[in-house]
Amino acid sequence: MSTHSILLATTTCVLLASAGIAAETPKLGTPIAPGAVEAWDISVEPDGVGLPPGSGTSKQGEAIYAAKCAGCHGEKGTGKPYDALVGGIGTLPAPQAPVRTVGSYWPYATTFFDYVRRAMPFNETKSLSNDELYALTAYVLHLNGIVGENDTMNAQTLPQVRMPNRDGFVPFKRGD
Ligand code: HEC
Repeated sequence: MSTHSILLATTTCVLLASAGIAAETPKLGTPIAPGAVEAWDISVEPDGVGLPPGSGTSKQGEAIYAAKCAGCHGEKGTGKPYDALVGGIGTLPAPQAPVRTVGSYWPYATTFFDYVRRAMPFNETKSLSNDELYALTAYVLHLNGIVGENDTMNAQTLPQVRMPNRDGFVPFKRGD
């Protein structure tokens, strides 16, 4: 065999081998159907991008909170048996022990909507309507003294709410 034909033969073997490898890759999954991602694609950004239509007020949220949240977060968000959602504003700086709640600690009001929509009620997640979520958000913000009793929360108003601890976080540049 000439050097040329050995080279050709080797190349052919390599080509056949790689074709074989390609053929052996596991054929996992199927192309996703249009719209199938939507139920999972529910992230709300701090600036409100991703907030759905709907609205609610604190007054509307009060009854929903009593029925679906108070058993775990206490009457009017005071806590017990689980996290307090209300109070502690101004307690973060030393020397006192910080009381971290939605009102005292969370930098963005939109995060409350996002978190509750995906994670609460703990025993029945993703069961709340958008109107209920806006109403609950308004209620907990109102209990914290951040919005008024009759303020309507929706995709336009919620991102405008300024949380007390908005500037309490130090931006951390990755790679520094
Ligand atoms: C069955 C008990 C239960 C119910 C009902 C429940 N929660 Fe919770 N909630 C929890 C637990 C447990 C956590 C802590 C979860 C964790 O840290 O992963 C939590 C955490 C939270 C937090 C985050 C608190 C923080 O500061 O980190 C918020 C906000 C919240 N719940 C809101 C609600 C709202 C609003 C409702 C009603 C729609 C609700 N929860 C109903 C058990 C419950």
